[in-house]
Amino acid sequence: MADMDGFREANNFGLGKAVEQQNFHVKGAANLSWGMKDRLSRIFNPKTGKSVMLACDHGFIMGPTSGLERIDLSIVPLIEYADCLMCTRGVLQAVIPPTTNKPICLRSDAGSTILTNLNDNVVIDIQDAVRMNVSAMAVMVAAGDENFEAKTVANLYKAVDMGARYGIPVMGVTAVGKTMARDARYFSLATRVCAENGANIVKSYYCDGFEKIVAGCPVPVVIAGGKKLPEKEALELCYKAINAGAAGVDMGRNVFQSEAPVAMIKAVYAVVHENYTAEQAYEMFNDLK
Ligand code: 5RP
Repeated sequence: MADMDGFREANNFGLGKAVEQQNFHVKGAANLSWGMKDRLSRIFNPKTGKSVMLACDHGFIMGPTSGLERIDLSIVPLIEYADCLMCTRGVLQAVIPPTTNKPICLRSDAGSTILTNLNDNVVIDIQDAVRMNVSAMAVMVAAGDENFEAKTVANLYKAVDMGARYGIPVMGVTAVGKTMARDARYFSLATRVCAENGANIVKSYYCDGFEKIVAGCPVPVVIAGGKKLPEKEALELCYKAINAGAAGVDMGRNVFQSEAPVAMIKAVYAVVHENYTAEQAYEMFNDLK
């Protein structure tokens, strides 16, 4: 953890002022290579600058959690409604039809069920990522965790270096341990650490003060959904995040554990891309379910 003595609270985020020199629809990507931009454009819709990513990487830590027992039955039918699928190499190769033709954000660090061994300096071989034609690689960063911060930042760094060689963007996934505060101060730190270490996208969680997290992060921030909420609350979370500047969602359980996953992902899509309010999206969900 950085020396926090004399820490001065950040309070000058220029809220409401557009970021200058953005001739590309993905924040912070204007100066990247063609390949990077092409891959980012597959994930973030060039018309809206946003993305609905569908996350189903939970099994590499949690095993066959509810909704992911049979990915062929639960996730594959949802892929057509998402902008991007986030999954592990094992699931991609074993279950996801290559004909879906959707961009893949590949979970590229190693998962394990024993937290003390989590993500111990293992990142996917870049040649395998290239072989799978992935559009981004996702790596977790446990900022502020004395056991795992250095190892996970090293993972991110490795992925960024490898990705740079082949034009593959990297998404930093901010970890939320049991002991970590889930507030704007923590996520501002964690998202910024990811971006400054080279992540092109950062995945965070929504919390009060989210607009400051987004403003202080020079690359797009997408939110995880977290544990399953009633659909109305999940759509409100989504709406508040988009309204505060999120570039989209990378949502899992609140979609695939919904009583009507197709209706739910369509409602989330409407909030992210079509300016639906949470109420309008919930109405849509009820109509479709
Ligand atoms: C955690 C992840 C998961 O993909 C993330 O938690 C998204 O899923 P959910 O919306 O279910 O929280 O990256 O490392």
